Formats: sequence, structure tokens, C-alpha cells
Amino acid sequence: MKLSLELKGIILGTVSGLAAIGIAFAAGEIFQPRPTRASGATEELVIPPTGTPVNQGYELFMLNCAHCHGTDARGDEGPDLHGVTKSDQRIVSIIQNGIKGEMPKFSGKLNDSETRALVAFIRTLKAPHEMPHGQRRNQ
Ligand code: HEC
Repeated sequence: MKLSLELKGIILGTVSGLAAIGIAFAAGEIFQPRPTRASGATEELVIPPTGTPVNQGYELFMLNCAHCHGTDARGDEGPDLHGVTKSDQRIVSIIQNGIKGEMPKFSGKLNDSETRALVAFIRTLKAPHEMPHGQRRNQ
């Protein structure tokens, strides 16, 4: 049957076309040199190991928050997020609901686990006085 052969040809063509696109994408992922440090970040912000929730939080921070809080989270338009004293629940609420006139809400954009990953990341940002003894002053 001529028609079905043609159809098969179209299907095969489409499938291999999609596969080629897929391979191109995968190759791009592999060969693209991953930036180890976002531009503008200072030496201080340590990038958490990939695959950890904290790293997910870091990535989300860079995408959603860094343009206000700074790529080093040291503050820009928004405040420095090192050593935030608010409770986890309070931070979750700030991220979800925003701060009227100051910070947008992210409830429609970030799900619960993403919000928790962000909190985990923020918790790694220590104020100098939270550093373990010895790192802060010689005793
Ligand atoms: C449009 C700029 C903007 C963006 C985007 C933004 N923020 Fe904010 N954020 C602010 C400002 C401004 C404040 C301070 C508001 C105030 O204190 O009244 C703030 C406050 C906060 C606070 C409270 C800090 C404290 O010590 O009280 C946290 C936590 C926070 N932001 C986290 C985030 C996270 C996480 C994101 C990304 C998901 C984010 N922000 C995105 C502007 C922004």
C-alpha cells in the first residue's frame, strides 16, 4: 500500500527529527561550560553541591531573587539575606505572599518544595557573628 508507506516515511522522519533535536539538546547540556559563579557575585557565595536541595535553592535564588537581593545575596534593591533572623515559616510566608510594595509574591510561581529549597539556601547564608568560634576571632 503506497499511502501507508508514505505515512510510515513521514512518521519515521518526524521521529528521527525529534531524536536529532533531543540529541542536540543533550549535547548542549553536556558541552556547555556551566558557569561556576554568576557574574557579579563576590568570592563569598559558596555554590552548594549540585543535586542537593540547597543547590536547588541557590539556582532558584539566582533566577528569581538575585536581581533584587544581589547575586551574592548581600543585598541590592532588597536587603542582605545573610543572617536573617526570621523563622523558616516566616520566610516561607514572605516568599509566598511577598511584601506589599516591596517584594513580589511567588506563590503562583514556586511550589512548596521549591520554596523550602530557597529557605534551606537562605539558612546557609550566615552573618559573621554566626560563624563558629575561631573563624571569627583568634581565641
Ligand atoms: C523586586 C525585588 C525583590 C525580589 C524579586 C525579591 N525580593 Fe525579597 N525583598 C525585597 C525587599 C525590598 C525586601 C525588604 C522589604 C522590607 O523590609 O520592607 C525583601 C525582603 C525579603 C526577605 C526578608 C528579609 C529580612 O531579613 O527581613 C526575605 C527572606 C526575602 N526578601 C527573600 C526573597 C526571596 C527568596 C526571593 C526570590 C524568591 C525574593 N526575596 C525576591 C525585594 C525583592
